[in-house]
Amino acid sequence: LSLPDAFLHYYLATCVFTSSELPDIEYIHSYYFNKIEFIRFNSTVGKFVGYTELGIRNAERWNNDPAFLAQRRAQKETYCKPGIETRYRAALDKTAEPSVRLTSVRPHSGRHPAMLMCSVYNFYPKYISVTWLRDGQPVTSDVTSTDELANGDWYYQIHSYLEYTPRSGEKITCMVEHASFPSPKKVDWNPSMPQSDRNKIATGASGLLLGLILSLAGLIYYKRKARGRVLVPTS
Ligand SMILES: *[C@@H]1O[C@H](CO)[C@@H](O)[C@H](O)[C@H]1NC(C)=O
Repeated sequence: LSLPDAFLHYYLATCVFTSSELPDIEYIHSYYFNKIEFIRFNSTVGKFVGYTELGIRNAERWNNDPAFLAQRRAQKETYCKPGIETRYRAALDKTAEPSVRLTSVRPHSGRHPAMLMCSVYNFYPKYISVTWLRDGQPVTSDVTSTDELANGDWYYQIHSYLEYTPRSGEKITCMVEHASFPSPKKVDWNPSMPQSDRNKIATGASGLLLGLILSLAGLIYYKRKARGRVLVPTS
């Protein structure tokens, strides 16, 4: 038998909320002994609830003490409301509008010859919906998505993939719904070559042209020199 070196008694006060309004806040005050919660005040029931023999006994006693109960009930407002209002002011009612980019990528599964990736960057808060439309109709099959990935700077990103078999004349759309948008944002896939690819081709073509000009100049120079040498008398 080994005895613990210490006993630990502590309590945990929690405010559960969906808005900063008092009716939407639940205040929970839990008492623990050696990691076991033995009694809890729950503001929704306005009373203590016991979980162990000791907890149940104490709940009976405290629930029959109107002054103590009144004090606990008042704590929802005095303890939760200021903290929650501060949190809403600091972060929770703020939104950051994401940027949305559609790109063509190599398909995962090989079931379809084409795949599009809809990348949504730098949004806050986390809750977001990214869906696909084909000629205005929602597409649900062959759609995969990452989770909302935390950048570590309060912002999130998400990537949704659509595997598909292209049809001529169709319109494929990535639709993003987020608290920062007054209405859903729709980005249509433009199958013509993206600007970055055009830039790469332009750079390559200029390089090729420059190379051709230089080698032509070299060739002309060489020919002239060679001809000059021939004209010089040899003896
Ligand atoms: C508080 O009590 C309400 C009503 O019984 C219950 O729905 C809720 O889950 C309780 N909350 C906690 C955290 O125990």
